Amino acid sequence: MTDIAFHLNGTPVRVSGASPTRTLLDWLREERGLTGTKEGCNEGDCGACTVMVTDETGPRALNACILFLPQLQGKAIRTVEGIAGPEGQPHPVQQAMVAEHGSQCGFCTPGFVVSMAVAHAQGRTDHDDVLAGNLCRCTGYAPIIRAAKAAEGAPVPDWFSAPLTLAQTHPEEGADSPLPDALRPRGIAELADLYAAHPEATLIAGATDVGLWVTKELRELPLPIFLNGIAELARIERQGDKLRIGAGVTMAALRDAVRDLHPSLGELLRRFASEQIRNAATVGGNIANGSPIGDTPPALIALGAVLHLRQGEATRDLPLEAFFLDYRKQDRRPGEFVEAVTIPAEAPALRCYKLSKRFDQDISAVCGCFNVTVAEGRVTAARIAFGGMAGIPKRAAAVEAALLGQPWGEAAVAAALPAFAADFTPLSDMRASAGYRLQAAQNMLTRYLHDLAGRPVSVLEVQP
Ligand SMILES: Cc1cc2nc3c(=O)[nH]c(=O)nc-3n(C[C@H](O)[C@H](O)[C@H](O)COP(=O)(O)OP(=O)(O)OC[C@H]3O[C@@H](n4cnc5c(N)ncnc54)[C@H](O)[C@@H]3O)c2cc1C
Ligand code: FES
Ligand code: FES
Repeated sequence: MTDIAFHLNGTPVRVSGASPTRTLLDWLREERGLTGTKEGCNEGDCGACTVMVTDETGPRALNACILFLPQLQGKAIRTVEGIAGPEGQPHPVQQAMVAEHGSQCGFCTPGFVVSMAVAHAQGRTDHDDVLAGNLCRCTGYAPIIRAAKAAEGAPVPDWFSAPLTLAQTHPEEGADSPLPDALRPRGIAELADLYAAHPEATLIAGATDVGLWVTKELRELPLPIFLNGIAELARIERQGDKLRIGAGVTMAALRDAVRDLHPSLGELLRRFASEQIRNAATVGGNIANGSPIGDTPPALIALGAVLHLRQGEATRDLPLEAFFLDYRKQDRRPGEFVEAVTIPAEAPALRCYKLSKRFDQDISAVCGCFNVTVAEGRVTAARIAFGGMAGIPKRAAAVEAALLGQPWGEAAVAAALPAFAADFTPLSDMRASAGYRLQAAQNMLTRYLHDLAGRPVSVLEVQP
C-alpha cells in the first residue's frame, strides 16, 4: 500500500492505499471515470492508452497500461480529457484530426491525439517515428500523418504550456516523496542498502518488461523497489574518451546522447520498440533482463562496454559479454544491481543491423553489431556480437578470429562466413527459422563490408 501525489489534468491529486502495482490505466478508468484513455492490448504495443507525463525533463508520451502509480510521484499527467482547453476549445491537433478525417471507429484516436499533442509541444516533425507506437486498424495512417503535419505551424495553446509538475506548483509535495522509502529509494547508496537487505525484492525501472508480468501473467510482486526516484541512475557522464551511462537512462535519452557519437546505434534505437516504450525503457532493464533478443546488449558488447555492478558497498566491473552466462542466467549475485555501463565515446566503425518482420515496433529476429578495426589494410581488432542467434547476446568469437590479421576485403569476409556455424546454433521460432537466422547473420557481415566502403545498404537508401 502506498501514498502518491501527482497532478492530473491540472489538479493536484493524492492517492492513498493503492497497491504499488496498480496501473495508471486501471486507476484512471476505474477510480476516476476517465475512460477516454483506452485499453487495447494492455501490454505496451498499441498506444490506445497513451498519456502525457511531464517532469523536470519536459513532457513525454507513455503507455498508461504498463505504468505503475508509484512511477508518477511528483509528475503531471494529462489524459486525453485534458488536451482540450478549459472552455472546451479543441487543441490544434484535434482540429487537424477532424479536418483531415483522421478518425473512423475512434478507438485509437485518444492515444493518437495525446501522442500528437506531446510531439506538437516539443516541436517535433518526425511523425512516422512519433506515431509508430500508435496502431490504427481502420482509418489508415495517411490522414493521421496529414493531420500531424497540418498542426505543425500552430502555436502551442496557453493552457497546454501551463506548469505542471507538483514540484513547480506545490514544492512541499512534489520533490519529497510521501512514499515509504522502502519502495522508492532516492539515491544509489540507499538502493544498495535496501536491496542487499531484501534480495528477494523486484527492481522496477521503466516497467516495460515488469509491467507485463502484472498485466499478462497476473503475478504478485511482494516487494517492488522503484528506481525512478534515483536521479543519479539516470545520468550520462562524459569521462575523457568514455561515456558512463547510468542504468536508469531511458532509451530515448540514450538515443539523444549517442545520435552524433554513434549514429548507427542511434538508428538502431530509433527502431527500439516505439516512442512511448523508449520514453520508459531503461538501459539497466534491457541488460538485467538477460533477454537473448534485447537490442542494446549486442551493440554495447561490440563497443567493448564495461558493466558496473553494485551489491551493498561492494562494486565490481566486468566486460558486458561476461555478464550473460546462459539463457536467462546472468552473473548477478543476490542483492546486486546494475549501476551503469561505460562505452567508448568514439567508434567510427560501429554498425548495428536490426532484422525484424516490421520496420518499427518489433522485436529483432537477428540483431548484428560490428566493430572491426582496420590498420594499413589489415584487421587489427574485431568485436562482433549478435542477439537472436543463441540463448544469450553473444560475441562471434570464431568469426572474429577468422578475420583477425587478414587483409580487409571480400576474400576475408568470404573466408570468415563458415565460422558463423561454429559460433552459433540458432533456434527456429515464430520470428525466424534457424537456417534463415544463420544466413541473415552471414549476410550482415557482407553488408558491413559494403557499409564501411560507403555503399548504400539500408533498405531506406538502396534504389532499384
Ligand atoms: C511493446 C514493447 C516493445 C518492445 N520492444 C523492444 C525492442 O524493440 N527491443 C528490445 O530490446 N526490447 C524491447 N522491449 C522490451 C523492454 O522494453 C526492454 O527490455 C527494456 O529495456 C526494459 O527496461 P525497463 O526499464 O522497462 O525494465 P523493467 O521492466 O523495469 O525491468 C526489467 C528487468 O530488469 C530488472 N532491472 C531493471 N533495472 C535494473 C537494474 N538497474 N539492476 C538490476 N536489475 C534491474 C527488473 O527487476 C526486471 O527483472 C519491448 C517491450 C514492449 C512492452
Ligand atoms: S493498451 Fe495497448 S499500449 Fe496500452
Ligand atoms: S479509427 Fe478505428 S482503429 Fe483507428
